[in-house]
Amino acid sequence: MSQKKIFLVLVAISTVSLLLHHGGHLSWTMEAFSLSCPALRFLHSPLGAAGNKAKHTSIAFLKTHKTASTTVQNMLFRFAERHNLTVALPVQTCDHQFCYPHPFSGRFVHPHTTPADIITSHMRLDRAELRRLMPNDTTYVTILREPAAMFESLFSYYNQHCLSFRRVPNGSLEAFLDRPWSYYRPEEKDSMYARNTLTFDLGGDKDRSAQDAAYVRGFVDEVERTFSLVMIAEYFDESLVLLRRLLAWDLEDVLYLKLNMRTPASKRALGGGLPAKIRAWNSLDAALYDHFNASLWRQLGALGAACVAREVRLMRRARGWLVRDCFGGPLPLVRSAAQIKNKDLRPWQPSTNVGIVGYDLPPNASRAGDGRVTQDVCTKLVMPEVQYSRLLLRSQLLRYRRSYPPRNPRAHQNPPRANQGRPSPAPRASGPSQRAPSP
Ligand SMILES: *[C@@H]1O[C@H](CO)[C@@H](O)[C@H](O)[C@H]1NC(C)=O
Ligand SMILES: *[C@@H]1O[C@H](CO)[C@@H](O)[C@H](O)[C@H]1NC(C)=O
Ligand SMILES: *[C@@H]1O[C@H](CO)[C@@H](O)[C@H](O)[C@H]1NC(C)=O
Ligand SMILES: *[C@@H]1O[C@H](CO)[C@@H](O)[C@H](O)[C@H]1NC(C)=O
Ligand SMILES: *[C@@H]1O[C@H](CO)[C@@H](O)[C@H](O)[C@H]1NC(C)=O
Repeated sequence: MSQKKIFLVLVAISTVSLLLHHGGHLSWTMEAFSLSCPALRFLHSPLGAAGNKAKHTSIAFLKTHKTASTTVQNMLFRFAERHNLTVALPVQTCDHQFCYPHPFSGRFVHPHTTPADIITSHMRLDRAELRRLMPNDTTYVTILREPAAMFESLFSYYNQHCLSFRRVPNGSLEAFLDRPWSYYRPEEKDSMYARNTLTFDLGGDKDRSAQDAAYVRGFVDEVERTFSLVMIAEYFDESLVLLRRLLAWDLEDVLYLKLNMRTPASKRALGGGLPAKIRAWNSLDAALYDHFNASLWRQLGALGAACVAREVRLMRRARGWLVRDCFGGPLPLVRSAAQIKNKDLRPWQPSTNVGIVGYDLPPNASRAGDGRVTQDVCTKLVMPEVQYSRLLLRSQLLRYRRSYPPRNPRAHQNPPRANQGRPSPAPRASGPSQRAPSP
């Protein structure tokens, strides 16, 4: 038999056995799927050792604004808990972000959450500072979203926080885009939500002219050099296929529910010339997006469309099973914050004009699926950013105290690596970063 036929047979066998064994689906490993996409074996493991490579556990995820990044953060938090990893978290004075929009600094990191394996809370990137904090084998990942849709989202989410938007008569997106310079002040607090937000989050100069081709090229190159993967929100599941391979993770490690969504009534369709105007106003972000969307599709093309589509299907099916186990049925209904009984699951609301929806767990969650998943797994799956960050900080501080009891003199001999010799109190963050989770 030719190699191709052998693969086809293996695919058939693994598919059938998966279907037969779907009772144990949450403990799948992906070995069977690796076989079904032979090209993958050469992508990250030249020796062909796909399937038995250790999971990669040092990850810096640069969380950008309004890009589905909260969903990725939730996935990383859950991964960290399952694997006993340490997540670098902000000191309390920074709230649950690293004192955004200040450029990232090691002083913003709670010293008892280092040495860190994973970092994923909002920050404005400072590459050198982040490199100093994280292990040197860290994989850097970020996510971008199509600029028009993203700007519409920012405009609605921050309509009360961002002065550039608050000045606009009738909260009209059209009015803003017709004469942005009448409302926008580059140096003003929160101006980063009103122009080239992605560029700003990634450490760039949001007000640089797009005519400055050398700057744009240089910045794109820098992002390219820093990040091993730039995910694209519009192709979220496809991006996860690449992420899973990059990190050698199992399928169950990339299961998620969408978090921090707006109600349909808070969204609007962009017609007419709006998308073009938004791209022109956010031209640096547009350049970034086009570059990295093209590169995402080149990488997906290298895997093969059939292989990617198959894995996306399997991922969605597995998510369906997890959802059924947690909620006792199909996808849980999204609820407004007021309807959610469990306050740990209520998402933060940016203003009365925007509804952010979340999920509630049925009281008998987890029993629904014959106890295959615990209530804890289900709760964490739908827990909003602010509550999960707090909870993780609490549990890591407890763990730290257990490892370094206060009276133990060794605590002073073994200070956490990353914060050696650094002043630990963080500057007081000012401004709305205190109250806006800005996911
Ligand atoms: C994580 O730590 C707990 C408690 O120390 C231990 O029981 C568990 O086996 C550990 N899990 C992993 C994946 O290391
Ligand atoms: C990473 O750091 C360790 C110790 O700090 C060092 O021994 C190792 O060579 C470094 N690896 C790389 C690839 O720089
Ligand atoms: C704002 O809305 C009012 C009433 O709907 C309208 O008369 C006015 O022209 C609007 N202003 C702008 C600048 O669109
Ligand atoms: C992303 O790139 C793909 C492939 O080139 C293209 O088909 C798609 O339209 C792009 N998406 C967006 C939103 O620009
Ligand atoms: C969970 O509780 C709801 C309401 O009490 C009930 O309708 C549903 O059948 C229960 N599901 C399971 C699997 O017990």
